[in-house]
This record gives sequence, structure tokens and C-alpha cells, in this order.
Amino acid sequence: MRISITGSIAGDAAELSYGLAVLGAAPVLLAAPCAGFDERRLLLGHGVDVRRTDSSDPVPMLKQFDDMGWVVVADDDSASMLARTRHVIGGGYSLVASPGPRFSRLARDEVRTLVTGADLLFTNERERDSLIDRADWTSATMLSKVKCWVTTLGANGAIIESATAPARRIAAVPTEAPARRGGAGTGFRAGFLAALRCGADAATAAHLGTAVATAVLETPEAQGFRPDLPTLTSRVEAAHGPAASRRVRALLTTNRRGRTTTARGRDSRRGRDDLFAEDIAVARVPGELLAHGEQGPSHADRALAGDVHGVVECEARRDLS
Ligand SMILES: Nc1ncnc2c1ncn2[C@@H]1O[C@H](COP(=O)(O)OP(=O)(O)O)[C@@H](O)[C@H]1O
Ligand SMILES: [Mg+2]
Repeated sequence: MRISITGSIAGDAAELSYGLAVLGAAPVLLAAPCAGFDERRLLLGHGVDVRRTDSSDPVPMLKQFDDMGWVVVADDDSASMLARTRHVIGGGYSLVASPGPRFSRLARDEVRTLVTGADLLFTNERERDSLIDRADWTSATMLSKVKCWVTTLGANGAIIESATAPARRIAAVPTEAPARRGGAGTGFRAGFLAALRCGADAATAAHLGTAVATAVLETPEAQGFRPDLPTLTSRVEAAHGPAASRRVRALLTTNRRGRTTTARGRDSRRGRDDLFAEDIAVARVPGELLAHGEQGPSHADRALAGDVHGVVECEARRDLS
């Protein structure tokens, strides 16, 4: 199952698709028309499908995939977000609303449209307050319009709400070495969605989300985060307990192990954790992407040439959900 992200490359869309890609989710980035060549190349090299980034209406692009799961409408100018939301809902796709802070120019009913019918709504605390205010709804009414609402609370973690189950608080993974101010919310969302895609429940998804958010906070460069399984699981264990850590580990390793093929049939001699690291570091880049006139980085080329052990093929992941 695929996740696609619509939004502006200057907003969260590029960083969210990067995070999903390095976590193995092979996302598709749509409707990010200001993507420059270098940015596209970087994203492509990490396994983001960037071939369809220049369309205001994502639906014709989405139709090219028979396994499209969620479509994230991420932070962009308000008119674009509104139009995309209408296209996604109208096209019958599952909406993940992640509107960021820029919807204040919209009229009340337009703000309501941004979230109504969403499978998942992501906000931070400020966005939550202003969304409720601008929609002129109570939080209970807002909640009744979506299946699940995740609000991140900075160092206080996150809260998961749905109209049908009790709210659940999830602690943050503490950090003593934050290296940047931004990126935590996007990191959380990438971890959360990558986990859901592998079949996790919302709490487990949030456990991974908090660990990824903290790892992103501790990485100085905007797109420098590289997941490391032992670190992620030990930090999940410290913050959320051994059972949560086992679930996150199983989630990440089972899905990889089950789908791992070796380049040109050679066996990987690596252990699971190693394989995970290698899997993330090498090739999520199907040959057709590189054949489209784009240059991937050398590790992707090497992987495609069968030079790297333990390559996990994107196309083999279609049935993960
Ligand atoms: N100071 C912090 N310490 C630990 N975790 C943090 C900290 N700030 C953010 N996070 C993590 O990142 C997630 C998103 O952070 P938040 O500040 O709500 O988003 P935003 O990036 O929109 O400001 C939180 O749910 C938490 O897991
Ligand atoms: Mg914050």
C-alpha cells in the first residue's frame, strides 16, 4: 500500500516524504511544483517517487496506482490545500489532513472542508486551537468529523483521539541533545504513518513517531535523519516500555524480513539489525525511476546493479498494509 503526499516543497511535504522513504515506505510526492532539480534528486535518491510533482489536481496522478492508500494533504497555501482536499475526498481516496498553520485565510466552511471525512488528522497544539477556532466547532464536533485525531504536544508527547475510543496520551522520547528547532512534527508524522502502513495500531504508531521525532530533533540537517533500529527500539523501550519496544521491533523487522530479496540471488550474511540499516541505506529506488532521466546517488546505482546485498525491492511491498 502506498502513501502519497501533496504539498509545497517549501512546507512539510518534502521532509515528510523523505522521512517516510528512509523508513521504507516508498512514498509518492505529488503536487509540489516548486521542487528544484537538486531537491528532486535528493528525494529520488532516497526512494521518493517524484515523477508526478507538477499537477494541481492529484487525482489523475493517483489513478496511476492501483495500491494507493492514504493521501496526505500537507501544509501549503490555503487555496491549494482546499482544492486538493476536495479532489482527494471527491476521488474517493483516504485523506490524511495535516494542514499546518496556514489555513487562516479560509472561510469557516472551507476550514471545515479541510478536515471533514479525514481518516487521520494531524495537528500540533497551536494548530489544534486555531483549527477549532476557525472552524467554529467544539473539539468534540471536530473529532466526530474524522476517524482519528493525533495532536502532538512537543516535549509532552502526543494525544490520540477518536470518537469511538478513549483518548490516549503518549509520552515523548526525551532528548538531552536537540540540534534543531523544527522537524519534530514532521518526523513524528513520518514514523506514525510508516508504522500504520505496516499494520500497527495507533499507539504503536505513536511510539515509533515519538522516537523518530526525537531522532530528527537530534539531527542538525533538515534531511539528515537515518533510522537505526537498535537506537530506535532502545529509546522506545526507555520511554514506552519493553512491550512497546518489542512491537516496534517486530513491526520494522518482520515487514523487512518477509519481503527481503537479495540482489542477484545472493544471500545476505547480515543479521536482522544490520539488514535493516542496509535496507534503509541502499535501494528503494526502482529501476524505472532512474530510467526517467534522473541520476540517483551511487549507492542506489550500485544496488540496482546488484552490487549490494540485502536489497529490499519497493515493488515487493505492495501488499504491506
Ligand atoms: N523538546 C522535545 N523533547 C522530546 N520530544 C519532542 C520535543 N519537541 C517535540 N518532540 C517530539 O516531536 C513531536 C512533535 O512535536 P511538536 O512540537 O508538537 O511539533 P511541531 O514540530 O509542529 O512543533 C512530539 O509529539 C514529540 O514526540
Ligand atoms: Mg515544537
